[in-house]
Amino acid sequence: MDIVNPAIVEYLVSLTPPRHPVLQEMEEYAREKQFPIIGPLVSRFLQQLVILTGATRVFEMGSGFGYSALWMSLVLPDGGQIHCTEFDPENIERGRKYHKTAGVANKIIWHQGDARESMREAKGEFDIILNDIDKEQYPQALAIAWPKLRRGGIMVTDNSLWSGAVITEETPRESTAGVLAVNRDTYGLSDAITTILPLRDGLLLAVKKKNLT
Ligand SMILES: C[S@@+](CC[C@H](N)C(=O)[O-])C[C@H]1O[C@@H](n2cnc3c(N)ncnc32)[C@H](O)[C@@H]1O
Repeated sequence: MDIVNPAIVEYLVSLTPPRHPVLQEMEEYAREKQFPIIGPLVSRFLQQLVILTGATRVFEMGSGFGYSALWMSLVLPDGGQIHCTEFDPENIERGRKYHKTAGVANKIIWHQGDARESMREAKGEFDIILNDIDKEQYPQALAIAWPKLRRGGIMVTDNSLWSGAVITEETPRESTAGVLAVNRDTYGLSDAITTILPLRDGLLLAVKKKNLT
């Protein structure tokens, strides 16, 4: 199921200005390999979040070859850091090359292995956490990551409408069950204001309240 009418997507894409040549190269690679990336429409929204939150510390769970991280790094101030996490060392190697070419390698710290473990071990709080790991792991990712988000920070979870599977599957697959659970859990957080933006495949946004009244 298309979340957004394809003609509307086409219109939004037509409004989107040309992007950094390295991003174009990454999109080309993703197309060739059918590798899932968040794409330019969501990425530009992530850039807006980086600017609006004044982020200097970002943690990404599930970075692939660093496409979404490159977008965020382009608007992150000098001295800011994005922690990228990824199972696959080949993706990391590819990501490092792209980031070096784009001149942002000094803002990126890669962690190879399970993003949930890397998040457990991470020190300090983050301004933005992006969750894009395997969908059945989403609820656990939220539980581990939420305490590490600063007040006023935002946790973003991609694919929250999962091509419409959240409303169409009578018996949800494991991945769909993970998405359904994280949506429910996030809306249930008493210290969050949560919303789902029906952009691309659905973007779950949880802002941590500054005070608990
Ligand atoms: C959807 S892709 C990420 C795309 C990236 N956020 C982007 O838009 O450019 C998900 C990536 O997360 C990795 N992954 C999935 N579960 C993971 C986990 N628990 N720990 C680390 N990496 C994981 C996969 O290998 C894959 O490369």
